[in-house]
Amino acid sequence: MSVKGSSSKGASVREIFSTMEYGPAPEADDVARDWLKRHGNRFGHYIGGRFTEPVSGEYFATQHPGDASELAQVAQGDEADVAAAVAAAKEALPAWQQLGPHGRARYLYALARHMQKHARLLAVVEALDNGKPIRETRDLDVPLAARHFYHHAGWAQLLESEFAGYEGVGVCGQIIPWNFPLLMLSWKVAPALAAGNTVVLKPAEFTPLSALLFAELASEVGLPAGVLNIVTGDGRTGAALVGNEGLDKVAFTGSTEVGRSIRKATAGRGLKLSLELGGKSPFIVFDDADIDGAVEGVVDAIWFNQGQVCCAGSRLLVQESVAQRLEAKLIERMEKLREGPSLDKSIDIGAIIAPVQLSKIERLVQQGRDEGYACFQPSWSVPKDGWYYPPTLFSNVSPAATIAQEEIFGPVIVSMTFRTPEEAVELANDSRYGLAASVWTENVNLALDVAPKLKAGVVWVNCTNVFDAAAGFGGYRESGFGREGGREGMYEYLKPSFVPGLPKYSSEELAAPAGADELDAGVRESSATPGLPAIDRTPKLFIGGKQKRPDGNYVYPVVGEGGKRVGQAPLGNRKDVRDAVEAADKSAAWTKNTAHGRAQVLYYLAENLSLRAPEFEERLRALTGADRKAAEREVHASIARLFSYAAWADKYDGSVHPTPMRNVTLAMNEPWDVLAVVAPEEAPLLGFVSLVAPALAMGNRVVAVPSSKAPLAATDLYQVFETSDLPAGAVNIVTGVKDELAGVLAKHDAVQAMWYFGSREGSEVVERESAGNLKATWVNFGRKRDWYDPVQGEGREFLRHATRVKNIWVPYGE
Ligand code: NAI
Ligand code: MG
Repeated sequence: MSVKGSSSKGASVREIFSTMEYGPAPEADDVARDWLKRHGNRFGHYIGGRFTEPVSGEYFATQHPGDASELAQVAQGDEADVAAAVAAAKEALPAWQQLGPHGRARYLYALARHMQKHARLLAVVEALDNGKPIRETRDLDVPLAARHFYHHAGWAQLLESEFAGYEGVGVCGQIIPWNFPLLMLSWKVAPALAAGNTVVLKPAEFTPLSALLFAELASEVGLPAGVLNIVTGDGRTGAALVGNEGLDKVAFTGSTEVGRSIRKATAGRGLKLSLELGGKSPFIVFDDADIDGAVEGVVDAIWFNQGQVCCAGSRLLVQESVAQRLEAKLIERMEKLREGPSLDKSIDIGAIIAPVQLSKIERLVQQGRDEGYACFQPSWSVPKDGWYYPPTLFSNVSPAATIAQEEIFGPVIVSMTFRTPEEAVELANDSRYGLAASVWTENVNLALDVAPKLKAGVVWVNCTNVFDAAAGFGGYRESGFGREGGREGMYEYLKPSFVPGLPKYSSEELAAPAGADELDAGVRESSATPGLPAIDRTPKLFIGGKQKRPDGNYVYPVVGEGGKRVGQAPLGNRKDVRDAVEAADKSAAWTKNTAHGRAQVLYYLAENLSLRAPEFEERLRALTGADRKAAEREVHASIARLFSYAAWADKYDGSVHPTPMRNVTLAMNEPWDVLAVVAPEEAPLLGFVSLVAPALAMGNRVVAVPSSKAPLAATDLYQVFETSDLPAGAVNIVTGVKDELAGVLAKHDAVQAMWYFGSREGSEVVERESAGNLKATWVNFGRKRDWYDPVQGEGREFLRHATRVKNIWVPYGE
């Protein structure tokens, strides 16, 4: 066969190779159209194992973005539909739980197999409903969705041994977006079912079809009725689902704005919540990168799925010396991209999901132009019959520009330059988001130095947009919290088995400190208490390594057992909280310390506490009325707990996830930076130490609010801290009215995570107020732990809450 041979139509193969002009290669859509027809192009909800009419009788159209044609009518769900679905999920729960790990594993495995058997139908339905290239649905969305079911069939099987002491949360409400409809379904449904939960899922209004097809496949494999329910509809249906009181867990992927509203709507309801939200992820190219590789990387980062990707590399940061070269190559490459109908196997870019998203993109691009940034779009024009937008590059954009800060969620990338790695990190982190980052360099030292400094849940080295079920995915900052995939993702659908049985506090146990409102103006020395001279000092706050008077200069009386006044404590206010957070925020030294170094300090704390044991015992007796034995027990348990976390500091390690690509996927446990801790009222020393020690062990800087009623057990620790080589700002302590201080901490944007152990009402306030910067919260909903119990009071549960997992992908091989 000769390569010279020209085709009958004229163009030689050689010519075709050089021009790369080739005709369309359409994928047949007959199977998908037949499937739609079988349903009369109309779908009800999938509830309790069958398709049901919506209570309201209301339907709406889902369209094909490639030509705006209607594909089918789907049900608009309301409260009544949601209630029926939640009831079905609840009813199915006991039997699904009793089925046990192996039984559930069999179903997950069957689902994976069945998806693979229907891979082509799924790929075509997805491409039609979403408008994305069939190449992507065929090669990525569908195989990866099946892979999630295989992977989680494994977790289902191993549940009891690998998650001993944990159980499923119950009924899960799941809301997913339209950009990866089937894949997002699998990211949510597979771990939920593997953990023994049942599900009500609401797909996005623009792309309900693959979820409905999946429901049909689930029926075909005999998944018990009610284990999976699909309710279709728009944001109102989503809000109805979130508002349903029957849920034990909400999982959401979508916009930060809606995520925030869900955080507020679920506050205080005792639900578990995971949010996977927006992003403005940096794509960082160093001067020693393989530039051609990086150019292809940009194509995958921002033109994959039309840039409608939460982790899209939408900010291109290029080292100055190679910026021009990279941009020239990128522009050349952009000219060669092909945009068109999703079923054409030779296109790179499909259509935008809906007119509303198209106009958002147009508006933001216009704003970039109006602000004077150079904008490049290829010379070819996009098809006119659908909702298309061309690949777009803005160069030399200021980091503060709207287009550099706001998520455009389209095929638009903005570029800027940097000189040094430090500057690259600073620019990369100059975002309220933190979903992903991509780092391009041939220098592995540089890559692995930069990766931990990036505030992002996923870092791809010399690659981008790679995903696998064995690796966790999820954000830092306003990109949300919680992980999907891997061992870390399973915890989002599990709870410690002891939690439901914990007793509630009595109102007496939670009462605000007696006399907190009868304030003494000005810090005055308390009158000497006969026999107990050590408590005659008025403690201060502990901020930035220094003892500080409270801003308001107010103290409150600390009343011990039998109403006896045992001292005074500073009444911290919002200014004190802000100062404490600022001190913690600045104190990077603790986080930079090695795990061994942190362990040494924790041992030293234990040693110094042990030296003062009698003094602490006296204090506890006066504060709580404990007898000598009980006081000794609390001090001893606190010393032992410090030893536990000194031990853990270098042992709570991450892992290397075995993803199928040729790479090491490093799952690193990173601290939150500033972690706020509100300690319980009871066990004023042990409860405090049980929270502060694990936070410190993992490298967090802590702002702690001790027991309001018995704060002096914590303020006595200042001297222990001061003599134990703890860097200034690593621990900051603000005493006062606990729930007031908690509310201020929950609102603070520099606090990345917050733990609260107090009342149900206080838990609600913390969850609601945390919505501002979407900090991760861990609250007790007014339930009391036994701090002496090694299962309830210490261990991996605490360490897991003290860290967030960052997955760093490092490919290998030439
Ligand atoms: P959205 O957040 O409104 O939609 C996501 C899902 O949430 C859909 O199923 C929707 O019906 C549902 N929803 C909407 N309002 C709700 C409410 N109040 N309560 C419960 N559920 C609700 O996102 P939308 O409007 O489709 O896109 C807007 C922007 O959001 C995009 O331009 C993009 O910036 C971002 N986005 C991010 C995604 C991600 O993967 N992180 C996915 C989709 C959008
Ligand atoms: Mg559609």
